[in-house]
Amino acid sequence: MAHKSLLAPVGRAMRPAQAPRGRNVAARTAELATTTRQQQRGRERQRQELQDVVDADLLCRVADAAQAAQAARAGRGAAAAAAAAATRREQADLLASVYEQLDEEIFFSKGGWKIPPRERALIDAVSAGAAAYGEILPGGIDELLELFDLGPSDTFCDLGSGIGRVVLHAAMQSRVGAAVGLELSDSRLEQAEAAAEVLSGLGVPLRPARFARADLGSCDLEAASGGAGHYFACSTAFGAALCRSLAERLAAAPSFRVLAASRALPPQRALIKVGELGGIPYSWIPSGSLHVYVRDWQSAPAAVLARFWCAGGACWAPPRAAARGAPLLRGLAAGEEPLVLGPGAAAAGGSWMPAPRFEEEKEAGGLPPPSNPPQH
Ligand SMILES: C[S@@+](CC[C@H](N)C(=O)[O-])C[C@H]1O[C@@H](n2cnc3c(N)ncnc32)[C@H](O)[C@@H]1O
Repeated sequence: MAHKSLLAPVGRAMRPAQAPRGRNVAARTAELATTTRQQQRGRERQRQELQDVVDADLLCRVADAAQAAQAARAGRGAAAAAAAAATRREQADLLASVYEQLDEEIFFSKGGWKIPPRERALIDAVSAGAAAYGEILPGGIDELLELFDLGPSDTFCDLGSGIGRVVLHAAMQSRVGAAVGLELSDSRLEQAEAAAEVLSGLGVPLRPARFARADLGSCDLEAASGGAGHYFACSTAFGAALCRSLAERLAAAPSFRVLAASRALPPQRALIKVGELGGIPYSWIPSGSLHVYVRDWQSAPAAVLARFWCAGGACWAPPRAAARGAPLLRGLAAGEEPLVLGPGAAAAGGSWMPAPRFEEEKEAGGLPPPSNPPQH
């Protein structure tokens, strides 16, 4: 269509009286036609790239995960949800009291803050400043666990696990197959192991949990974590070199699927940022972030993608996911046309549907924007 309308003026321009001007028009028309062809090729390439990277099957899985989460929430009912929240609070209080008791009994590593000078020197030598201590608070761990939706076939790993609160919280409150903490400070490891022992001595039901000494900047993460797919890093104090090395190490670990980190990591080919959760409480800030990365779309847990791609009964993938490099996502805020897979589309074969009416539906309140739009 674009070609026809561009060619129309050429006929008129060929009249003898206008020949000189006609040459300009013809040249300009040829130029415009080339630009149009290039734009069309560009759009086709973009669409192809997107389909290579985020195909309809994947979006169907994501839509199913969103539906399952919604059904679980609805099926649980208000009373059951309140009871589950009360149990979570009780478990968190119990864990807190175990650590308080240990604080009184263990000289070093009071709450993780105090470590022997030689340990501090070692950690600071391999990862400048990273010996500083801080923690994600229980409300933040709950958000993390809700995002990860860990099941018996998952292994979760806390990178720099300190005195072990996150690992033990996950072992108490999720259905995880195994929770692993990797840490360089021996005294923090000692306290984590002591807390795990006290909990099992009290007969608290725990999913398998273990702690291991490892340097995040040089270890083989696959081996050290026992093939974890889900990772957390309270990485705020990690220096730039450690962040870079950690990003490379994750990319090299075949089982890696998703990472949530308190600090943004440098872009890597196998570290695609899906989005960011806000309002996460840390010991030093009441409302921080969790930056969420996946290795690639295909291996990303559907539940994680659903958190960022679905809302109000519909799912949409970011319209442009470049095949290589990062950042791979362009937010809806950038005004791009989303591709939508509505309810029922999975059953209908799940083909991609451009959503030209998206803006109108959004304005009419039919399709709310995602609560956490993908970030650049
Ligand atoms: C901010 S604390 C987080 C503790 C825990 N993840 C939490 O959120 O409750 C970071 C931990 O990373 C550890 N760490 C720093 N550099 C490390 C390295 N290169 N290898 C292993 N652990 C490291 C520190 O000793 C510290 O315990």
